[in-house]
Amino acid sequence: METPLLSVKSLTIGIRRSKSADTIIVDDLSFDIQRGERFGIVGESGSGKSLTLRAIADLLPKGVEVLSGSIRYNGAELIGMPTVQRRRLMGPEIAMIFQEPMTALNPVIRVGDQIAEGPRRYLGLSKKAAMALAIEMMAKTGIPDPARRARAYPHELSGGLRQRIMIAMALSCGPKLLLCDEPTTALDVTVQHQVLKVLEKLCDDSGAALAFVTHDLAVVNQTCTDLAVMYAGHIIESGKVKSVFHDPRHPYTKGLLDSAPDFDQPERDLVPIPGFPPNLAARTSGCPFAPRCVFAVEACTVAMPPTMEVAPGHNAACIESQHIFEGVTV
Ligand SMILES: Nc1ncnc2c1ncn2[C@@H]1O[C@H](COP(=O)(O)OP(=O)(O)OP(=O)(O)O)[C@@H](O)[C@H]1O
Ligand SMILES: [Mg+2]
Repeated sequence: METPLLSVKSLTIGIRRSKSADTIIVDDLSFDIQRGERFGIVGESGSGKSLTLRAIADLLPKGVEVLSGSIRYNGAELIGMPTVQRRRLMGPEIAMIFQEPMTALNPVIRVGDQIAEGPRRYLGLSKKAAMALAIEMMAKTGIPDPARRARAYPHELSGGLRQRIMIAMALSCGPKLLLCDEPTTALDVTVQHQVLKVLEKLCDDSGAALAFVTHDLAVVNQTCTDLAVMYAGHIIESGKVKSVFHDPRHPYTKGLLDSAPDFDQPERDLVPIPGFPPNLAARTSGCPFAPRCVFAVEACTVAMPPTMEVAPGHNAACIESQHIFEGVTV
């Protein structure tokens, strides 16, 4: 089989403590992303989605580190790779887009110059050629009058245009993997839809794979081919979007889908998942969803259920995963 573009194995992220047990935030995460694939990562706030992407990009916040596990990009191990070598991958191989472009853009540099910086540095283009590429990338993201807009400062542009600038910047060096952390959450629904379309088209054209973090299931449905559902630092279900959405096998996924507005029926009532998200500091050895789960049995509170393949390529970490939820509201 072909080497996956990205292969994450048993990744554990947390805070190292010298006098007590380490705080584990992301626990034993494994997933692969193939070339050109669009991989969604969903889960509620605090489940570890952003830290997972940041670990891949070597952008973990101070104090938070990869405690164990492996992240292979194109077969090469990133964990333990010298920083200089690893940073060289960022731009031409792996790029990242954040939720709020204002924090990622430099407020005092014209946006065209900011886009041109990567191609100058990584592709060795002259100033003139890099600016021509920047304007071309802006045009590809659908920014009207790109040559004029290239001279604007970030605050002179709307949120939707700024996010297009971020996309142009991220894709300017032709990365094979684009990491997106809620790239459209700050935008209103119409603009969000347009920006997603641009992102999808540009990734299709360049063959870039997408790792796409969101809490919006409708966005995953529109944009992604595959997904992983995270709960309290674990992947509790994964597979093709179609398979997982039509036949969820983990009660949490089922609950998420029941509580999301139906993509076709906006009027449908929301069904909230009872209970509260877990407190990471009070981690237990069992399934973190057990306290909120109507199917939970004693075994669920003893150990994390193993991940089982419930259909080809569709995995769930639930001992009840063989049950069909038809007609059951979790
Ligand atoms: N710098 C940090 N120091 C300590 N703990 C952190 C830090 N950043 C995040 N965490 C903790 O790690 C957990 C996961 O954070 P993360 O940002 O990955 O969640 P998320 O799934 O992206 O949530 P959201 O949907 O709100 O963006 C959270 O409980 C958070 O409190
Ligand atoms: Mg986040």
